[in-house]
This record gives sequence, C-alpha cells and structure tokens, in this order.
Amino acid sequence: MKQTVNNVWDARLYDGSHSFVSKFGHDLVDILAPSTGELILDIGCGTGDLANQIYESGATVIGIDKSENMINEAANKYPHINFFVNDIIELEARNEFDAVFSNAMLHWVKQPKQALQCIFNSLKPNGRFIAELGGKGNIDFITAEIINQLKLAGIEYSTEQLPWFFPSIGEYSTLLEETGFTVHFIQHFDRPTPLIGENGLSNWIDMFAGDIFAGISEHIKVQIISSVEKNLRNVLYRNGQWIADYKRLRVVASKK
Ligand code: BEZ
Repeated sequence: MKQTVNNVWDARLYDGSHSFVSKFGHDLVDILAPSTGELILDIGCGTGDLANQIYESGATVIGIDKSENMINEAANKYPHINFFVNDIIELEARNEFDAVFSNAMLHWVKQPKQALQCIFNSLKPNGRFIAELGGKGNIDFITAEIINQLKLAGIEYSTEQLPWFFPSIGEYSTLLEETGFTVHFIQHFDRPTPLIGENGLSNWIDMFAGDIFAGISEHIKVQIISSVEKNLRNVLYRNGQWIADYKRLRVVASKK
C-alpha cells in the first residue's frame, strides 16, 4: 500500500489523555465478531489497539491510517500486525477483505462517497462493513462556540469549513445504498464523553480541532480557546469533569 502523508497528530497524547477513542471502540469489535481465518482491514487504526483486539480473535488484520506518527506507534506496539500509512480515498484493494472495520475516523473524510466506494471495492462479495463515526449534531456545542469566538475576534468561519462530516441516519444510509451496500443496522445515539483533567476541553480542542486555527497566531488561538472554555463551563462541565457532547453513528452493512 502506498505511503501518503505525514501529519502532526501526537501518538502519545492519543494513547494518554485521549485513550477514550479506542476504549469506546471495544464493543464495536464485538459487533464485528471477527473469527479465525478472516482477513480484516481496520481503517483509521490510530495506534493499533483495536487492530490488536481483532488480531487476538484469531483473524488476520491489516491496519491503515493517514498519519505516519500513528502508524509508527502502532507498529512499535504491535509488531505482529501489518500497518501501513494509507488514505482511505486512495485505497486500491479489490475483493480482498472479509470485513472492513472503522472506529472514529470516517468523520474526518470529507469525500464520504469516495471513501465508501473504496471500502466497497476492497470487500469480498458478502463482506461486511462495521463502522462508528461522529453523527449529525456531534460536538455542536463545541463547534458553535469556537465559531462564535472566531467571529468575535474578527475571523470569518462557517460550519461548512469544519474539517468533519457528521451525517444523519438518512444521509449515510443513502450514501451506503448508492454505493451498493445493503444496510442491516444504523443507529444514531448520544455518547457524552468525559475528557481527562481540568484542561480536558482545551486539550481536546488543541489535539482534534487544530485545523480550524490554521493561519491564526498562537496568541489569538490561546485566547479563543480560553474564551470557549469559559463560555462552555456551564454547559459541558459537570461534577468536576469536562464532558464532550459526542453523538455517534453506528453502521452494519454488507456487500451483497
Ligand atoms: C469524534 O470522535 O466524534 C471526533 C473526534 C475528533 C474531532 C471531531 C470529532
């Protein structure tokens, strides 16, 4: 598989303060129900924890991620698994996998049609696609307040510029069916997500929403994040903890 980009995600932070990403994915692996002899592709594998859980079921797993940092860390942690730097929309695999699995990555792909087509092509006939991503309304409080603060600082920014795609059940089912998938199950649900520490919200914004601040000076960015934190305290800080307003979309589909 082709090497594509190197980006600046910090793999140690991903495994430390933000380890909830893969912890929440464990029950998605139960839905995948991998079995011995299967070949499974984990897209957006991050530092490899869920790929390793799949491997432990006896299946063969290949992990891909766009971030070279993540892939290097995954390969260090789990040398028995093959990991590759690869962008899902450039995946060229055809009829190879019994299942494609993805946790908390597909909302980063703003060309969902292309991603679903590559996933579909990579599956064997009857292969299954099990995924979870941010759903419609995901982190609405956080993004609305960031945009509000950008405006107050005189910086124009619209929701269309956000680096994520958070589809509704209707939107995603339509995309899946247009690609040729049969949708067996799709669910949208709230998952309030605790962020670790007193700086949980600002750390989260720094780690995951950095793209929004591209081209803005560090000084202004720090001011904006601090105002966002102040204004969201009443809404997202409960019992001494920041809770992000996550909404999930879970999908089970197959290539019939
Ligand atoms: C999410 O998992 O919902 C998510 C993570 C980072 C940025 C945006 C959304």
